[in-house]
Amino acid sequence: MEIFGYVVRKLEPMRKKAFEVLQEHLPNRKLSTPLEILEIGVGGGANLQYYPENSNLTALDKNETFSKYFEDNKKKFSHVTYKKTVSSMAENMEGIEDSSMDVVVGTYVLCSVQDVKAVIKEVKRVLKPGGKYLFVEHVAFPDSHLGSKAQNFAAPLWRLFCDGCNINRKPSEDIRKGGFSDVECENRFPSNAWLFLRPQFIGIATK
Ligand SMILES: C[S@@+](CC[C@H](N)C(=O)[O-])C[C@H]1O[C@@H](n2cnc3c(N)ncnc32)[C@H](O)[C@@H]1O
Repeated sequence: MEIFGYVVRKLEPMRKKAFEVLQEHLPNRKLSTPLEILEIGVGGGANLQYYPENSNLTALDKNETFSKYFEDNKKKFSHVTYKKTVSSMAENMEGIEDSSMDVVVGTYVLCSVQDVKAVIKEVKRVLKPGGKYLFVEHVAFPDSHLGSKAQNFAAPLWRLFCDGCNINRKPSEDIRKGGFSDVECENRFPSNAWLFLRPQFIGIATK
């Protein structure tokens, strides 16, 4: 699993940037009130280190492959408390009540879900009015870019060997059209990311 650690480290700057964006969107937060956070596709919990003070985490994932890493990270980052772990598809989060979350975090997860639109709909359902959806996703190169051809060529094998991950998806339109009151987002091309994972879409949507 060392390759897993290597990939996780490469993505650190984008995670850090995303949580800086979240902090900017919580200027009037009372630190004494826990921030209810749902993370979808939490995996090994690589984001926990960046969570704001006094976060109360509901962790959701469809499988438990990364649970050892998640347990390690849970122990390491004590500014996060753990409400519950939900084993479920993000397309249908029955275990999470409507309008119950201040923040939903999703990083590098829309590439491998079965139905992006259904996930966005569920994210919006569980957010409180004014709640924030924080996202970072690797996405397809623009059609005119040579990298797009390389991604399309490699996509079937990549999907096969990387647990259903699609390197040529364009989830940005689904987020923009997801019915949020505001979406702030941008494309970035982090130079330290692998070519296929280089275009990244980072931002925050407000319910
Ligand atoms: C590439 S990993 C990213 C893990 C973590 N978010 C991160 O940034 O390191 C994708 C994660 O999404 C989970 N996942 C994939 N499809 C899912 C779905 N439909 N519902 C919930 N979790 C899903 C996988 O089990 C995996 O843990």
